Amino acid sequence: MMRVKQIFMLSGLGIICTVLFITVRKDMPEQNKLTVDVLEKIDNIVSKSKTFSLATQNPNTKKALTKSHSNVIIEDENDLLSVARKISSYNRTVLVTMVNDAYLKFTYSWLCNTKNMGIHKSVLIITTDQVSKDNLTRDWPEVSVVAMDMKLKGDQTYSKVGYVKIMVKRTEMILSILMADIEVFVFEVDCLWLANPIPDLQSITGYDILVNPVARTNNRVFAGGFLWLYVTDKAKAVWKKVTEQMIALGERISKMSDNAQVSEGENDQQFFSRLINERYMNVSIKMLNLDVYADGQWYNLPEDKRNQSHPVIINNNWVVGNEAKINRAKKWKHWFIHDDLTCDMDLVSQTVY
Ligand SMILES: *[C@@H]1O[C@H](CO)[C@@H](O)[C@H](O)[C@H]1NC(C)=O
Ligand SMILES: *[C@@H]1O[C@H](CO)[C@@H](O)[C@H](O)[C@H]1NC(C)=O
Ligand SMILES: *[C@@H]1O[C@H](CO)[C@@H](O)[C@H](O)[C@H]1NC(C)=O
Repeated sequence: MMRVKQIFMLSGLGIICTVLFITVRKDMPEQNKLTVDVLEKIDNIVSKSKTFSLATQNPNTKKALTKSHSNVIIEDENDLLSVARKISSYNRTVLVTMVNDAYLKFTYSWLCNTKNMGIHKSVLIITTDQVSKDNLTRDWPEVSVVAMDMKLKGDQTYSKVGYVKIMVKRTEMILSILMADIEVFVFEVDCLWLANPIPDLQSITGYDILVNPVARTNNRVFAGGFLWLYVTDKAKAVWKKVTEQMIALGERISKMSDNAQVSEGENDQQFFSRLINERYMNVSIKMLNLDVYADGQWYNLPEDKRNQSHPVIINNNWVVGNEAKINRAKKWKHWFIHDDLTCDMDLVSQTVY
């Protein structure tokens, strides 16, 4: 077992972050054995998505499938997979992110930041509550929004039970989309986009997953909030494994109160990073360059280094708390909304390349 010295902040879903001590273990403790419940849940997700994929790819089978599988709701506009399929028909990849009501301002700022990049039709925002969905749909009609049916509201602190429950659901939803043969780019809205990365990322081929290392972890930890999943058997297998581990974790914490602490070695990013590090299923990954897809350490670079750099994306992590994050974005002029939530498009055009 090797203890790693780095301390880093996770931008995690835009919900309040905290200091995280990472422990990278060489000899992983055995994962808890999966229960029948976990396996059934996974099977259910996978078979629903496959059925959906089959049905939407072959219109002739659609009716029959709708009839014979009463649990498959294909016509429902709010159905996650229907929405994802519609988005995917626009430009293949679906850009998936999850936000809660405490994080709407960041979402608005990011939407202003990227307003002229022509990508909003590719965006799928999953909200943890209905009001956030209603507001986003009203103010940003081009983006697609799906509300999760969760009773958790407000700031959810990283690594607490409430937060982990949301992350379990997010992991499941990403699996559903991927298993329906739809390419997924997972991103977070607390992030500066200096240019549109999608054409470059879409032109990369020959891999199962694109990953972004977390700075100062010796390429041992990969961002859970910035990854690209291709529709390949290996990418599906890896994400299915992450989902199994998350559902099992969800079961273990199901009786705990939402404010209880969950071990920091147990979250989607840790599970995902371990599988990538052991090249589970021989998965073929490409590590994105941190100079181009930078994280919050960019803000700490010496000024000359920063001036010489030319990142496309800067993830606003490595900072503690929602308020501090907003303050840093403001200080660096990376905050693109006025107090009334309207866009500061002058600032956007001064900032993006
Ligand atoms: C949604 O919009 C209403 C009306 O503009 C506003 O009062 C409310 O605070 C918004 N809710 C969130 C979560 O931003
Ligand atoms: C993984 O790749 C290595 C080297 O290419 C090969 O020897 C091994 O058999 C592969 N394992 C699996 C499970 O495909
Ligand atoms: C970095 O760029 C800023 C803005 O262009 C400039 O004011 C500053 O002098 C530069 N600093 C260094 C060390 O090059």
